[in-house]
Amino acid sequence: MDYIGNRQYWDEKFSNRSDMPLEPEKSLVENIKYFKKGTVLDVACGDGRNALFLAENNFRVTGVDFSRKALKRLEIFANRKNYNIVTKEADLAKSDSLHDLGSFDNILINHYKLNEGQLLNLKKHIDDDGIVFICGFGHKYRLDSKVKEKDLIKPVDFENFSKVFQLIKYIESEDARGFFVTYIFRKSY
Ligand SMILES: C[S@@+](CC[C@H](N)C(=O)[O-])C[C@H]1O[C@@H](n2cnc3c(N)ncnc32)[C@H](O)[C@@H]1O
Repeated sequence: MDYIGNRQYWDEKFSNRSDMPLEPEKSLVENIKYFKKGTVLDVACGDGRNALFLAENNFRVTGVDFSRKALKRLEIFANRKNYNIVTKEADLAKSDSLHDLGSFDNILINHYKLNEGQLLNLKKHIDDDGIVFICGFGHKYRLDSKVKEKDLIKPVDFENFSKVFQLIKYIESEDARGFFVTYIFRKSY
């Protein structure tokens, strides 16, 4: 599944951005205290606004995305700050796209929707007590020409996921951009 657009759409979008990263996600900034010290896998990291914020907060970050343009920008931003952020180009629509990445203390998925199979697959990539932080367009978001029903995060998405991961925090928020949800899970033993 492509999220909002295909690789070409995202490459073009990142090519048209300014020479500076965007601000990190507000919900991540407000809830970073829930993260375990150590490593973070940033799934569909884009050009790295959140990866950079996490590196600044002493996490060791790996970012995965299918847009080469996005990853190149992230590498440039990271070099400017002397941050050592690992980048990997991968198409997350493919079920084995994370297989060689090992496991992490935290996984961040911000404004990207993994399908159910991939979501359940995350248990192989997270350590015990590890945190999975998911934030994006919530179930009450008003659909528009870009954001489709399939892109929304709904409670039903986590029915099976919740058998392995314990929900420790759920947040709804609404602003001029629309309705957003944050789910913070901890891997249970
Ligand atoms: C809305 S952006 C979010 C970027 C970043 N997580 C953030 O919060 O700024 C969605 C990202 O998903 C990536 N993406 C979309 N479909 C993908 C796929 N099939 N595989 C890998 N990345 C994908 C895009 O390249 C883009 O960077």
